[in-house]
Amino acid sequence: MKRVLITGAAGFLGSHLCDRFIKEGFHVIGMDNFITGDKNNLTHLESHPNFEFIEHDVTEFVSVEGDLDYILHFASPASPIDYLKIPIQTLKVGSLGTHNLLGLAKAKKARILIASTSEVYGDPLVHPQREDYYGNVNTIGPRGVYDEAKRFQESITMAYHRFHGLETRIVRIFNTYGPRMRLNDGRVIPAFMGQALRGEDLTIFGDGSQTRSFCFVDDQVEGIFRLLFSDYAYPVNIGNPHEISIKDFAEEIIKLTGTEQKIIYKPLPEDDPLQRQPDISLAKKILHWEPKMGRSEGMKITFDYFKTLPQDALFKSAHKDFSNHIRK
Ligand SMILES: NC(=O)c1ccc[n+]([C@@H]2O[C@H](COP(=O)([O-])OP(=O)(O)OC[C@H]3O[C@@H](n4cnc5c(N)ncnc54)[C@H](O)[C@@H]3O)[C@@H](O)[C@H]2O)c1
Repeated sequence: MKRVLITGAAGFLGSHLCDRFIKEGFHVIGMDNFITGDKNNLTHLESHPNFEFIEHDVTEFVSVEGDLDYILHFASPASPIDYLKIPIQTLKVGSLGTHNLLGLAKAKKARILIASTSEVYGDPLVHPQREDYYGNVNTIGPRGVYDEAKRFQESITMAYHRFHGLETRIVRIFNTYGPRMRLNDGRVIPAFMGQALRGEDLTIFGDGSQTRSFCFVDDQVEGIFRLLFSDYAYPVNIGNPHEISIKDFAEEIIKLTGTEQKIIYKPLPEDDPLQRQPDISLAKKILHWEPKMGRSEGMKITFDYFKTLPQDALFKSAHKDFSNHIRK
């Protein structure tokens, strides 16, 4: 039985990856320190004979007993609300954490896949974004902690590939959504759905003309799975290229949730990208992958999931209490 280590296993994407690898007959070792994740995302796997869990901060030395065939490094705060609150941890998990996992991959002779992001393109001057676009990132802006950590992560991964001959894969993930997102993580889909469920008006930052594209989690996991088993070591965009303006999207959500909310407008935060759309020609060509889930169906599945959450989850503050994780 092949053995895979998945970091960030208690998070949104990590937990779906654990499910997929268990389903494919792997032995899965999940690792997380719960800084932005949730134990409940893994409860259903707790007693599975092929699943084990290690609570650990990957910015500290990482050791795993036994063989490892694959490592998927998904540990990192991922939403602006999180990485603005814990900027140093975000930089550390992208740099020190990635270094630790590359070292582990080298020691175990494992293939490693690194979760990068469309944020490496920053506020892009080229549209849609292809993998050969170098990006437009403000290194010292508030979002720089995430963007630059991920850019460093890609660089050190390629250095291990070139210098040590390590088998590496890099996925540049564009906005992904689905069940197990945190309702209060500040990203637009849970934000709108949470507001709809609480009977509040939907807040748009800026004039709503900025565009986003959203990839359903099952499509994202399929793309990542195919990339891991491909022989391509350079970054690959995985996301949904269907673009929508935030204003049109808010109107879709109002229709979907059957609520009567109005849309209200607030100033655009600093460095918020105006356009974000993946060019997925490379993924189509080398992975024969493209997203299958339509937005209306995917949004309905996601909204149905949020409706099952306990009432108090709806009213939790947007900020997790990070005090246990912050060294004084
Ligand atoms: N969800 C998206 O749309 C998206 C887009 C681009 C990139 N990504 C990348 O995918 C990965 C997962 O994102 P997500 O949306 O599932 O976020 P998430 O916050 O739900 O999951 C991240 C997980 O990593 C864990 N973690 C963070 N720091 C850690 C550390 N030092 N040690 C151990 N565990 C740690 C958290 O507790 C959490 O469970 C991240 O690397 C993120 O940058 C996600």
